[in-house]
Amino acid sequence: MIELMSCTIIVGGFFGDEGKGKIVAHIAYHDKPTIISRGGVGPNAGHTVKMGEKEYGVRMVPCGFIYPDARLFIGTGVLVDPRVFKKEVDMLNVRGRIFVDSRCGIIEEDHIQRDKASDHLAKTIGSTGSGCGPANSDRVMRSARLARDVPELSEYLIDVPMELNSALDRGESVLLEGTQGFGISLYYGTYPFVTSKDTSASQIAADNGVGPTRIDDVIVVFKAYPTRVGEGPFSTEMTREESDEMGIQEFGTVTHRQRRIGEWDGKMARYSAMINGCTQAAITGIDRIDEACFGATRYDQLTEKAIAFLKKAEADIGAPITLISTGPDVSQIIDLRDEL
Ligand code: IMP
Ligand code: MG
Repeated sequence: MIELMSCTIIVGGFFGDEGKGKIVAHIAYHDKPTIISRGGVGPNAGHTVKMGEKEYGVRMVPCGFIYPDARLFIGTGVLVDPRVFKKEVDMLNVRGRIFVDSRCGIIEEDHIQRDKASDHLAKTIGSTGSGCGPANSDRVMRSARLARDVPELSEYLIDVPMELNSALDRGESVLLEGTQGFGISLYYGTYPFVTSKDTSASQIAADNGVGPTRIDDVIVVFKAYPTRVGEGPFSTEMTREESDEMGIQEFGTVTHRQRRIGEWDGKMARYSAMINGCTQAAITGIDRIDEACFGATRYDQLTEKAIAFLKKAEADIGAPITLISTGPDVSQIIDLRDEL
């Protein structure tokens, strides 16, 4: 059995929407971190977490909210839209345990208008229209407002890196959750069809002010059938007819656009695992490889077809697959970490 690691980063290995939210929720219940802190771009991200009868879509609050015993942080590098934030805090009833770094950049109404009015962003790139690109651009121009300049956020403000590093000093476990996916990294993705920041594990550490030497594990989440929303290259993309025939249809959490569906991309998985410094991989949607695996919670319930796929994926990734998601619910997962 591996020792419970103290600082774990979870990131998406393909183009986003790999099911990170569900993996974060499972790990939170299993590993009991005292803090779950978000990195990534901002409210362009949408996470869906399904637990029992309830399904939640969140854009600002870390998806670890589902685990009630952790404090929830929004890291320094993340853009905050105060309206989206307040709405989610009220809806999820997390006031009192959610905090924002005082240096987070702020998304204004004007950023959203600029995002939507720009043909380049809205049409050519296919942005989410959430204002992230223009807000990051203002941050680089050093004209953006920060969370500390917004009175309505004052009760939530903290120094996220200070809190995280102190928790690590005390030997507590913390989870750093990434958003977006590797393929839309500003540096390593399919530029210019990318988001406005790097999305790799190193960026998630930087977003939270945790130095590289303090990271114990990087879990990269891959989807058996990758998806992409917005424009840009997608080398293993299927035709709509092919994916419909397989019964795969997905819609974005933020924009409700229909996602493009593709086959497993072993080459991309390997490159992504390398740049992310992947120590363990999670695979979601294994029930799409073989329906008979739906809801499985033990490895010996998997079919030969699913196991053959996992063996190939593991060889492509070059790191052990320790988490296998077999359905949308948090309980539908095989966790092999105890057997390592
Ligand atoms: P932006 O991040 O809104 O500027 O959008 C740039 C590109 O990144 C578009 O193709 C979006 O669809 C994509 N994108 C941004 N955030 C996410 C995400 O969380 N999941 C999937 N795609 C995303
Ligand atoms: Mg999403």
